[in-house]
Order: sequence, then C-alpha cells, then structure tokens
Amino acid sequence: MTVHFTYDSKDLAKAYDEISNSQFKNGTLLVEKLAVKPGQSILDIGSGTGRLGRHIGEIIGDTGSFLGIDPLEERVKIANDKNQQANAAYKIGVAEDLGFIPDSSIDIIYLNAVFHWVVDKEKALQEIYRVLKPGGKAGFATGARELNSITGLNRITNSVLSEGLYKQAVNFADSIQNLHGLTTTNLVQLLANNGLKVRDVQIKEVERKYRSAQEITRFIEASSFGNYLNHVPDTLRSQAKVDIEAELDKHRSGDGSIKFSNYTIFAIAQKSLSSAA
Ligand SMILES: C[S@@+](CC[C@H](N)C(=O)[O-])C[C@H]1O[C@@H](n2cnc3c(N)ncnc32)[C@H](O)[C@@H]1O
Repeated sequence: MTVHFTYDSKDLAKAYDEISNSQFKNGTLLVEKLAVKPGQSILDIGSGTGRLGRHIGEIIGDTGSFLGIDPLEERVKIANDKNQQANAAYKIGVAEDLGFIPDSSIDIIYLNAVFHWVVDKEKALQEIYRVLKPGGKAGFATGARELNSITGLNRITNSVLSEGLYKQAVNFADSIQNLHGLTTTNLVQLLANNGLKVRDVQIKEVERKYRSAQEITRFIEASSFGNYLNHVPDTLRSQAKVDIEAELDKHRSGDGSIKFSNYTIFAIAQKSLSSAA
C-alpha cells in the first residue's frame, strides 16, 4: 500500500483550498516559529493549493523568493492561478527529489501537514539538508502518530472497521497512518540522524468543529487527496464511508456540531552554520 497521487481530482483540490482552515492555522504558527524574515528564500514542500504560500509572500516581501512544490497537478494549478507575487512560483515536485535546486541555496524550508505523507523520509531529509544554507531552518507540522488512538476521529474510523463485514477484510497495518505516519520520537531521531539540529519541538492539540459527518469525510478525502480508506477493499469502501458517517453523527454536541481533536507535532530544525553542503 502506498500513497497515490493519481486519486486526486479537480473537485478534491478545490474543496481542499476552501476547507483547509485548520492546516492553514497550523501553518501560520509554523511560520511564526521559523521566524521568517523579509528577503529570505523559502521552499514550501507539499505546498498544496498555496494558501500558506500566499501568506508567507506577504512576510518575505518583494526582496524574498518563494518556491512551492507539490506532486498534485490540480493543486499546483490552483496555487499558480491564485498567485499574485512575481517572486513566487509553484511547480510539480516531491520532497524526495530536489535535484533542480542548488546546494546551500535556501534559508527556510517547511512541510506543513505533509511529512506524514512522504514515503521516503530519509531521502527527503537528505535533500532538505543539501539545499538548506548553513544556518538555514526546516520546519515540520505533522500528525503525532502516538496520539492517534486518542483522537476521536481515528478511534471511530477504526472501531467501525473492526466490526462486521470489515473485520476480516481490513488490515490496519496497511492504513496510510500506520505505514507512513510518525511519532514525535521518530521525527526527532530522523532529523538528528540526517544532520539537522533540533531546536524546538511542541505537540499541540487542535480542535476541529464540523457541521455534519459528511463534512468530516469530505475534509479527510480532500486532505488525503483521495487516499482516505485506501486500506479498505474497493468493494467495501463506499459502504464503509456510510457506516463511518453514521457513527460520527452519534457524536453531535449540544449545539449540533461534531468536534474532534487532533495532535500536531511542530518541530524546528537547523543546519549548522559551519556545515558544508
Ligand atoms: C494535507 S495537504 C497539505 C498542503 C499544504 N502544505 C497546506 O498546508 O495546506 C498534504 C500535501 O502533501 C503533498 N505531498 C504528499 N506526498 C508528498 C511528497 N512526497 N512530496 C511533496 N509533497 C507531498 C500532497 O500532494 C498534498 O498537497
């Protein structure tokens, strides 16, 4: 089971641009932690539809430079269509191959809600290290896998998929979270093993509030570019979605909304000033 970039669509890309408020909010915190300054060169890996890029463009001003890369054509298209800054560009690319970027050329690199999707994390970190300037910083905001089991949404998805028809057919070890998600310890180890000095780590609880169960599954499908329920066999996937929505609907609070928390790791790492590329 791998991450599929071909499951995305125009519709999911458009939905993501409209409903990714919680990722955007996390992204602005990540940018604050990175202390981005006017004039800096920025690489946004997994830039999606460019919402955070548009925000950071205002910080770096006309003297900075910004490049966003993402493997999903439809999202890169939205980002370019909405881009109004001459010093910003979005192109198709993946974290594991930054071959088109010179060594030691970037001040700040960040991956906001992206690193848990990256299949070859070692390769990506080697590339990030190579292209960062000495003293340059890398920022990560990514799901805390060790806390997944206590986030309501995962608990409900997993409880539905462990019953009835799904019990024999679904292997949790194959879920994207299990295959590619990472714990805080994994993240710190990976950063340190790839030459980066870990400067700051924080886990933050982020509450999301939804009007309906359908809004939740739509949000997950758009955020996962069609990879939600990848580990459920094709023949059971639509029914699984209906059953999960029915279960989610039971969790409405007094004001009719459905609320779930999710835990995000914010990590800032730095390439040492004395390092050669
Ligand atoms: C949840 S979205 C986050 C988008 C954006 N960073 C934001 O803050 O809204 C995850 C993004 O990661 C991208 N992605 C997945 N695997 C990737 C990889 N190997 N390299 C770069 N981007 C990747 C996806 O294409 C998708 O746009």
